[in-house]
Amino acid sequence: MLNRTKVLELRVEAEAVAPSNIAIVKYWGKRNTELNLPLNSSLSVSLDSLWVRSKVIFDEGFERDVVTINGNKLSDGEVKDYAGKVLDIFRNFYGRRIYARVESSTNFPSSAGLASSAAGIAALVIASNEALGLNLSKRELSKIARIGSGSACRSLFGGFVKWNKGELENGEDSFCEEIFTPDHWPNLVDVIGIFKEERKKVSSRSGMQSTTLSSSLLKCRLEFVERTFGEVIDSIRTRNAKLFFELTMRHSNSMHAVILDSWPPLNYLNDRSFRVMEWVAEFGRAGYTFDAGPNPHIFTLEEDVKEVTEFLESEGAVKVIISKIGKGPYIIS
Ligand code: ADP
Ligand code: AMP
Ligand code: DP6
Repeated sequence: MLNRTKVLELRVEAEAVAPSNIAIVKYWGKRNTELNLPLNSSLSVSLDSLWVRSKVIFDEGFERDVVTINGNKLSDGEVKDYAGKVLDIFRNFYGRRIYARVESSTNFPSSAGLASSAAGIAALVIASNEALGLNLSKRELSKIARIGSGSACRSLFGGFVKWNKGELENGEDSFCEEIFTPDHWPNLVDVIGIFKEERKKVSSRSGMQSTTLSSSLLKCRLEFVERTFGEVIDSIRTRNAKLFFELTMRHSNSMHAVILDSWPPLNYLNDRSFRVMEWVAEFGRAGYTFDAGPNPHIFTLEEDVKEVTEFLESEGAVKVIISKIGKGPYIIS
């Protein structure tokens, strides 16, 4: 009789929470699609009301990566293009072919049209570093998250976060840093209106590639970002709400202008988005911003949250989420 001893297979796991982020200066366009190297630096705030919790289990017995979000399994293709990119890097660091199971959950409805990928990928990166005991710095981890999904690199930090576009071909200087702490501007609030919408037809990934290849206005937008980046930072440093709101709206408009300038036709806003834009601009004490979808993020000061919320409800918002500036990701022990 053959006496087979089973070789012990490695199994490690860890769990982390990461915040969602909303960009003030938007990322829209890449100079390298493999490494997600952006055409411009961007700036976001991390949100304390929207977070994702991800548990990762690496096990030498697994035959492929499996990812579930709120219990729903992603297709192999979806895994490969996002979380799989991150897991490949960790496998490389580790030096062994070891697959993972990722269980991710959001504290907001996944059908609400709020992007979960940034926070989800950031939480996965933090958890993987912990599980494999790699002790990589936040800066290194932000470069790994960037390769999973660009905007995810900003969710590695709390407060106000700058993603430096970098110049190098290999992306080693394209990482994030916290430029102001979470408590820098305590009465600044993001009021998020959730409207019932179907899933967006064109992902950020393919939309921004289409803009990069086809928009002739993109060059002007990059000049605008370059010219006003320092001003955005100054408005935050000095807590100049009026200027911050104005720049927030102009940067959102600038991104949606080059989206509209793309071919084939592309647009993420709808009639209600334009009504929101008009109301907020007239209101004067708030600033709107939209990502690749019609749900508005309206920045305002605490004393005006009620009025902004009532406006969103009168426009038919099914839910209004009120968020302050949040802290960065953390490990759950
Ligand atoms: P976006 O954030 O650009 O709006 P989605 O939320 O549609 O994009 O997510 C895009 C992809 O990101 C998904 O297909 C999935 O592969 C990956 N993803 C999203 N959320 C998570 C998560 N919580 N954990 C791991 N991967 C995620
Ligand atoms: P300034 O207000 O111009 O002194 O810039 C303050 C901060 O903004 C510094 O950390 C710079 O790195 C950053 N910054 C200024 N201009 C840009 C730009 N065009 N792109 C990216 N970051 C910028
Ligand atoms: C509109 O980070 O989702 O939210 O790098 O291809 O994964 P990939 O794109 P993604 O794009 C986010 C675009 C945005 C603006 C922003 O967050 O800066």
